[in-house]
Amino acid sequence: MTIDTSHGAQGERERVLIFDTTLRDGEQCPGASMTFEEKLQVAEVLDDMGVDIIEAGFPIASQGDFESVQEIARRAKNAVIAGLSRADFRDIDRCAEAVRVARRPRIHTFISTSPIHMKHKLQMEPEAVLQAVIDSVTRARSHVDDVEWSAEDGTRTEFEFLCRCVEAAIKAGATTINIPDTVGYTTPEEYTHLFRSVREAVPNSDKAVFSVHCHNDLGMAVANSLAGVKGGARQIECTINGIGERAGNAALEEIVMAIKTRNDVLPYVTGIQSTMLMRASRLVAAVTSFPVQYNKAIVGRNAFAHESGIHQDGMLKHTQTYEIMTPESVGVKQTSLVMGKHSGRHAFAEKLKELGYSLGDNAFQDAFRRFKDLADRKKLVYDEDIEALIDEEIGAAHD
Ligand code: KIV
Ligand code: ZN
Repeated sequence: MTIDTSHGAQGERERVLIFDTTLRDGEQCPGASMTFEEKLQVAEVLDDMGVDIIEAGFPIASQGDFESVQEIARRAKNAVIAGLSRADFRDIDRCAEAVRVARRPRIHTFISTSPIHMKHKLQMEPEAVLQAVIDSVTRARSHVDDVEWSAEDGTRTEFEFLCRCVEAAIKAGATTINIPDTVGYTTPEEYTHLFRSVREAVPNSDKAVFSVHCHNDLGMAVANSLAGVKGGARQIECTINGIGERAGNAALEEIVMAIKTRNDVLPYVTGIQSTMLMRASRLVAAVTSFPVQYNKAIVGRNAFAHESGIHQDGMLKHTQTYEIMTPESVGVKQTSLVMGKHSGRHAFAEKLKELGYSLGDNAFQDAFRRFKDLADRKKLVYDEDIEALIDEEIGAAHD
């Protein structure tokens, strides 16, 4: 198998829309709130990166949220700007007011459809929920042409009722239908099946784009999102660094790179400029003060770092031995060979070359022994440590 680092012929692959909800679902998690200015900065990067739809916030939630959604809507150059609203006319009207200045505005309205949410959270009968679906979508359509409807807790909703709601939402004018895995409960096979079955059972399903929205409570948000696409969804809702409620949402960078790297089994294409992924990740981490775990896929500090001697040796012989994508493709300058106790002779020799040293065989063997001793005492050996060690070595040779 060879690695395709280009986008290739788009004609053979179906386009999947990327809906970023970092500024809404992402910001909703404890401690991730952003200021007005920070939200504008994040939105600008998302727009430049090629995100198709930016969910800019929940306008009814606060005056601040309203103003940031409105300003993002005003400034967006390419992306559709969506605002979230409950199935409530005041929510929907406020959302419409915030997004209407966008070149491409969207209202995203939702209501819970699962038995547990309808009974305990909404305290509504299913028939009343169904009517609310019709009323809310109709109201949203009176403001804008682009309306998304979501069945909150969709994966724990009874199938027949879900289909009735989806059919009603499309009839009322919804152009996107989202079936979220609100509590991160589904599995890939189940989610594929759900999308296939709903699209088959609902007579007018071809009139809307179906969307996935996965939470990561069982660590399956990205796998589930891709599985939903296999079932016919063509929009993926996700966040930068996977931030979001509880264990987070599906991570945008993982979805984009999975599709790009494994196009042999995932025959889709996104509009994301992947070389901007690292920049977006760093910005979101900085403005939310949410650190990115070291071993996070794609954007973690170790994602393109190698310490073991065997791996470093392999990487020096051919980069595809231990990397399935290039660091440059996600905006990382280069692979790093981290010097530590697991590093071998080959990597040590390369490091000396990089630092401008050329040692004879005996001096090299001696320096390598001393490097290993140092690495046993220190977790990581930095360039300065190696320089000091070699300078001592050279000094000793001159004494
Ligand atoms: O997780 C969820 O169900 C949501 C909806 C509001 C789309 O975030
Ligand atoms: Zn969510």
